[in-house]
Amino acid sequence: MSLTILGIESSCDDTAAAILRGTGQGAQILSNVVSSQTDLHAAYGGVVPEIAARAHAETLDLMVEQAVAQAGVTLTDLDAIAVTAGPGLIGGVLSGVMAAKGLAFGLGKPLIGVNHLAGHALTPRLTDGIEFPYLLLLVSGGHCQFLRVDGPEAFTRLGGTIDDAPGEAFDKVARLLGLPQPGGPSVEAAAKYGDATRFPLPRPLLDRPGCDLSFSGLKTAVLRTRDALVADQGGLTEQDRGDLCASFQMALADVLAEKSRRALDMSDVTAFAVAGGVAANGTLRARLETITDLPFVAPPLALCTDNAAMIAYAGLLAFEAGRTDDMTLSARPRWPLDQAAAPMIGSGKKGAKA
Ligand code: KG4
Ligand code: ZN
Repeated sequence: MSLTILGIESSCDDTAAAILRGTGQGAQILSNVVSSQTDLHAAYGGVVPEIAARAHAETLDLMVEQAVAQAGVTLTDLDAIAVTAGPGLIGGVLSGVMAAKGLAFGLGKPLIGVNHLAGHALTPRLTDGIEFPYLLLLVSGGHCQFLRVDGPEAFTRLGGTIDDAPGEAFDKVARLLGLPQPGGPSVEAAAKYGDATRFPLPRPLLDRPGCDLSFSGLKTAVLRTRDALVADQGGLTEQDRGDLCASFQMALADVLAEKSRRALDMSDVTAFAVAGGVAANGTLRARLETITDLPFVAPPLALCTDNAAMIAYAGLLAFEAGRTDDMTLSARPRWPLDQAAAPMIGSGKKGAKA
């Protein structure tokens, strides 16, 4: 039986809607629209939660309308409505949950609250149909963890960051070097003309067993290197910026590759996948591909960064398994995927969301 699901995503700074058709075997993305708020936050050097929440509330209707129109369906064709119910910036998550509840109630359709991280974590299955169990490296602006994925709602955390997420580090490095936000794409672009061997930056926690990670020392090392260059030369040249970006990106890729190797040793899985915004990074993807003989999946760029197709897919799998929510569904700022794992000490400067 085929199922048509609307997905809604509004947990950070992207307002997104998508229509997915589940066929029982896999799923087909009928439409996937995203409205980015990057311009609204540009002047502030980061996402301002109040501005984000208001923009989501204003844009959600339009995104849903566009998703439905582009998919060539009508709202009455929907079998269920899936929405990100956390973790994320609470105002944005609330905007999405309220919009979804309104639609579900008005149309008399089932409502499914989805964990945003489950959306990222299941994307490699949506795009490549990989079988469970697989090892997932989730790397985004707020998260960094190794998860063994055993099923649509069965995740075991093997390790993760004890401080910042890699996306935060990319964004911070961009700010330090005067490059535009979001930092990942601009640091990656500058690194293309840089020499990755010029600055010997630290590879944090490699001396510690296991697959926990840390990025705050790496960020500080970039700050020190920049300050030393400015003190010496009075400023930074384009080449300095490129070299520093390339050296930073290489240090980050080295650490993630080595820790992924260890996580693979610990996890007894049949495939390795990477997901989340930072998985859009070409250098990182190329490095990760080399560390295992198992099938390696890195979803297309548009499905690595925040989108609603992944939310619709996680909703579809939950719906197929018989799970729905009612009007008491609440928005959760924190919602770890592995509920049994202890919180990571200090994980994520934006709050220990997972
Ligand atoms: O998953 P995502 O869209 O949002 C959440 O954090 O949930 O990830 C956003 C993060 C930002 O920090 C952004 O700088 C980073 O992903 N990012 C990248 C690249 N594209 C986006 N980082 C490195 N290289 C990229 N090409
Ligand atoms: Zn995300």
